[in-house]
Amino acid sequence: MLQHVLSVNQYDRDSLSELFTKADFLRSMLPEDIYSRKKHKRIATIFYEPSTRTRLSFESAAQSLGMDVISTENAKEFSSASKGETVEDTVRTLGLYTNGIVMRHYITGSIAAASEVSEVPIINAGDGSGEHPTQAFLDLYTILRELGTIDNITIAMVGDLLYGRTVHSLTRVLKHYHNIMMYFVSPPVLAMPPDVLDDIKDVDNIRVEATENLADVLGKVDILYMTRIQRERFPTDEEYLKYKDIYTITPESLPQMRDNARILHPLPRVSEISTDIDTDPRAAYFRQAQNGLYLRMALLDQIIS
Ligand code: NCD
Repeated sequence: MLQHVLSVNQYDRDSLSELFTKADFLRSMLPEDIYSRKKHKRIATIFYEPSTRTRLSFESAAQSLGMDVISTENAKEFSSASKGETVEDTVRTLGLYTNGIVMRHYITGSIAAASEVSEVPIINAGDGSGEHPTQAFLDLYTILRELGTIDNITIAMVGDLLYGRTVHSLTRVLKHYHNIMMYFVSPPVLAMPPDVLDDIKDVDNIRVEATENLADVLGKVDILYMTRIQRERFPTDEEYLKYKDIYTITPESLPQMRDNARILHPLPRVSEISTDIDTDPRAAYFRQAQNGLYLRMALLDQIIS
């Protein structure tokens, strides 16, 4: 059966757990022992927005499983989109050459729409300010590896909760875990959008509190999930500049945090995490980026046939 990965809402606790177990398994294997798993298969990565980790970890993951990769990393300019081709026609064509498509697009919902005409599985690698399901999977996988559990945690999501697609996916997917306390830390104009809040409003095991004040929650959290203010999604640069440095984690923030807390960030960071804290054991964002490689290997292993 064709299995697209469009939203975290397609996943439950069991399917997530299966993914994490597979990621651990692939991580434990020697490169030569996994190299033939997907030999003679090919994926396309087509990105209409910039990316470092998502595209390159997908490509590395595919190659580690023996797949070929074809790619357009600046599809807005270099694909036939610049000539007016629809995403649907692009997807139909890529399905003739490959066994799967990893796509990022600047329009929310466009990847789901394109998947309807696709003959091969499509993975949403970020659609505008909509969702970024594979980032949420690797975020959960990181929490599991760092804390040993995803249940009974207190998490603060900090920064641009309005436009940040990673926190939209992460918030939704946390509903599968027990006793979750979420702090949404943002200025009111960058608050979590109503459609995401609606998705978790009747969920008993999640408690939510919105605040503007980061200092108030620093000492309460197991996971501090920092995000970038999404400059490219603001109506004007002037508006962006008002918020760009609103929350920053510096060496002075660390003593206020729990010793066993972890700081995550989907990356890229701009000014919200000082590089001076990178060597603190609680700074887990580069381990998180590496977990993305194994998690995406697991995902490709599951859905590319
Ligand atoms: C994020 C994204 O593209 O949504 N990056 C990523 O995939 N790791 C976060 C961001 O761009 O701020």
